[in-house]
Amino acid sequence: MTHAVVYRRIGGPEVLEYTSVPTPSPGAGEVAVRIQAAGVNPIDAKLRGGIRPSPPLEGPRRVGADGAGVITAVGTGVEGLRAGMPVVVAGAQGLYAEAAVVPASTVTARPADVDAHLGAAVGIPAATAYQALRSLSVASGDRLLVHGGSGSVGQAVIQFAVSWGATVIATTSARRADRVERLGALPVRYGEGLLDRVRAVSDHVDVALDCAGTDDAIETSVAVVGDRSRVATLVRGADAPRWGIEAYAGGAAHGLTEQQQMWRREAIPVTLGLVAAGAFEIELGPRYPLSQAARAHEDVERGTEGKILLVPDQD
Ligand SMILES: NC(=O)c1ccc[n+]([C@@H]2O[C@H](COP(=O)([O-])OP(=O)(O)OC[C@H]3O[C@@H](n4cnc5c(N)ncnc54)[C@H](OP(=O)(O)O)[C@@H]3O)[C@@H](O)[C@H]2O)c1
Repeated sequence: MTHAVVYRRIGGPEVLEYTSVPTPSPGAGEVAVRIQAAGVNPIDAKLRGGIRPSPPLEGPRRVGADGAGVITAVGTGVEGLRAGMPVVVAGAQGLYAEAAVVPASTVTARPADVDAHLGAAVGIPAATAYQALRSLSVASGDRLLVHGGSGSVGQAVIQFAVSWGATVIATTSARRADRVERLGALPVRYGEGLLDRVRAVSDHVDVALDCAGTDDAIETSVAVVGDRSRVATLVRGADAPRWGIEAYAGGAAHGLTEQQQMWRREAIPVTLGLVAAGAFEIELGPRYPLSQAARAHEDVERGTEGKILLVPDQD
């Protein structure tokens, strides 16, 4: 047996349960991974709390899409992966666990210079940032406004966009302005008066990405970007048609295109290579044992600096 975090009903962080589960073994096209760290993403808490709808629970549901660890076994038909390899798992299910069986397609070799804590933080934030910027055709010379620039997704957005030659204006709380500035963005405090502050920093904006989800963020974006096909939200997908803007998941009625899914997959090895080269920063936040997953979800709902991680209890 091994341990994992599950929930049996939709509810607050207290529904998360640390429990024993059978040690998994991989089937065809699958890989078994000893998980050394799992990344906690806002979507984990939104699904658990019912803020994002999901199919009815028909038994304990495992949690966690991002993680890193070491392969322990490989199923038939899997090429290029072998037991003992350090890996990152991105876009899987059930990674709040000591061990998990995942599709081989979600597994990427982890460079020696990227430890499991950094590796577990790459997945959803880097994949989403990279895909959104590709979808918005962000390129050298663009002036990009990103809302939620101090968050995990926002920090990845800033770093990709700056490295591609864009100028980035990033909204943030006052206490996090230093962080976005350090990554190469022009910080602008969110809250009342946002539109005036954005205009004071830049006389024009070409493209905007909302990683915050407030009306203010989206209304400011459409006010400063003339072309609404270059304004997107990651959070207010259900409301995007009202503003005539793009949405990538985040509650949108439509799914991601094949191309967008491909960009999300491509982002993982690209980002790992950059992290290994010291060309991409990942800000880590609090780390909790799996048995305290509820505290991790309280943190992610409150808004915590850096990527929250869950690690096996014996660590
Ligand atoms: N559509 C997708 O595929 C997708 C993928 C990943 C994430 N998301 C969503 O994107 C959002 C960000 O994810 P994340 O992982 O980056 O979360 P995170 O690390 O918790 O960051 C949250 C960000 O929101 C900012 N924020 C908080 N209150 C705000 C306000 N009132 N106005 C403006 N900004 C505010 C925070 O700024 P301060 O810390 O400076 O206060 C921080 O930059 C979440 O809602 C998440 O569910 C969507």
